[in-house]
Amino acid sequence: MPSTHQNRVAVVTGAAGGIGQAVCRRLADRGARVVAVDLEEPAETLRLLEAAGHGCIGLRADVSDPDQTRRVGEEVRNRHGRCDILVNNAGIYPRYDIDALDYATWRRVLAVNLDSQFLMVKAVLPLMKEGGWGRIVNLTSNSIGLASPGVSHYMASKMGAIGFTRGLANDVAAFGITVNAVGPTMTRTPGIVSAVPDAAQQQIAQLQAIKRVAEPDDVVGTIAFLTGEDSSFVTGQTIMADGGLTRM
Ligand SMILES: NC(=O)c1ccc[n+]([C@@H]2O[C@H](COP(=O)([O-])OP(=O)(O)OC[C@H]3O[C@@H](n4cnc5c(N)ncnc54)[C@H](O)[C@@H]3O)[C@@H](O)[C@H]2O)c1
Repeated sequence: MPSTHQNRVAVVTGAAGGIGQAVCRRLADRGARVVAVDLEEPAETLRLLEAAGHGCIGLRADVSDPDQTRRVGEEVRNRHGRCDILVNNAGIYPRYDIDALDYATWRRVLAVNLDSQFLMVKAVLPLMKEGGWGRIVNLTSNSIGLASPGVSHYMASKMGAIGFTRGLANDVAAFGITVNAVGPTMTRTPGIVSAVPDAAQQQIAQLQAIKRVAEPDDVVGTIAFLTGEDSSFVTGQTIMADGGLTRM
């Protein structure tokens, strides 16, 4: 594995499973010191990284909560004194059509999927600026380009992530910091396996140019690129790592 991320400190949210866990593994394999943040104890992620010979810090936090994200920033400063990479991956995707969607669910989805990206940026940006180098990746979704019912709240949050990415890129470029978004297709993660029957996953896969259900490892290469040195002149962009289902 190339050591493209040697000694970089990488904060990954939603790191207890799914795509976040795969990101932690890939960045650690490439030399990063990972801080795995999740609502739940990211025990399995820590175990996998330790088994592969990597150090890793696990932090429990609700990334939609300003006090808890501020504490994450303080903890990263105390433990590492720097932050080079932030992957805003935490997200939820409850499915309700507009008649069933209540305001509390709308607010929660916006808070977890979008407010969290703003709050985590606020928590670690001072450290990135001090280091004069940074990479921020915000997770969006290819569902913003699909005719899927029952996800208006989710699509609003993921379009918001793209808007935040575009705007933030302008504010931080002078500090050597890039900001990009990555949109997976339906990917076999714990969240998807518990919510979407296998047959429906296969149906989505048949709409892609690459006709197989994505695994978390299919998404993380794009995130590795966007968090490394090779992407230094790429900012404000959205890349759909979606097997060619949608075209941005
Ligand atoms: N899996 C897919 O098909 C798919 C497709 C497109 C986009 N995405 C996006 O990719 C990201 C990861 O998706 P996934 O399928 O791996 O999800 P998942 O449900 O498998 O895992 C999400 C993780 O986020 C954590 N989390 C949830 N709310 C949190 C909070 N408030 N604070 C901290 N942690 C929290 C969960 O505990 C969990 O460990 C999400 O942003 C999702 O919207 C996923």
